[in-house]
Amino acid sequence: MIIREFEYEDLQQVMEIVYSSFEEYYTSDFFLTIWQASPDGFIVADDGEKIVGFVMGVMVDVETLRILMICVREGYRNKGIGSELLKHIIKKSGNVRKVRLEVKMSNKEAIKFYKKSGFVIKETLPDFYPDGTDAYLMEKSLF
Ligand SMILES: CC(C)(COP(=O)(O)OP(=O)(O)OC[C@H]1O[C@@H](n2cnc3c(N)ncnc32)[C@H](O)[C@@H]1OP(=O)(O)O)[C@@H](O)C(=O)NCCC(=O)NCCS
Repeated sequence: MIIREFEYEDLQQVMEIVYSSFEEYYTSDFFLTIWQASPDGFIVADDGEKIVGFVMGVMVDVETLRILMICVREGYRNKGIGSELLKHIIKKSGNVRKVRLEVKMSNKEAIKFYKKSGFVIKETLPDFYPDGTDAYLMEKSLF
């Protein structure tokens, strides 16, 4: 498996993974806008035949990386791919000291994954998502 930067040709597969994993609808423009704004922060896991996961992140200040989305294809989860993607984007982000993300309070699996990856819950964000659901703000310190 190769971890590499996103390329335009990956778009359909990334969207397939998202459609089968999240209830929310995201347009292709959503992914392309983030890619344009932060090309280094859009990383995919490629098993040689297909995209099996991806992560998108953006530096929000000189030392803080915000993870916008991380997703592994169903059937490929719990094999370490999510952890590899997370490690890769952090390593690539240079002087990053803090990594932050928001996660739905109801997404117990993802919360377990983030806790295992060294994140702690910092805050509750009521009404964070358009459907009115709440989020946790989670953070990982690198020093
Ligand atoms: C969350 C997600 C990205 C994790 O990726 P993954 O490749 O399955 O995770 P890994 O295999 O690297 O797991 C790392 C650790 O987290 C734990 N973990 C992962 N998924 C878990 C689950 N469903 N329940 C409990 N623990 C879990 C693993 O046990 C593992 O711990 P270990 O190292 O002690 O074995 C993946 O499950 C996913 O795509 N979920 C759907 C999309 C989503 O909810 N994304 C996050 C919100 S934006």
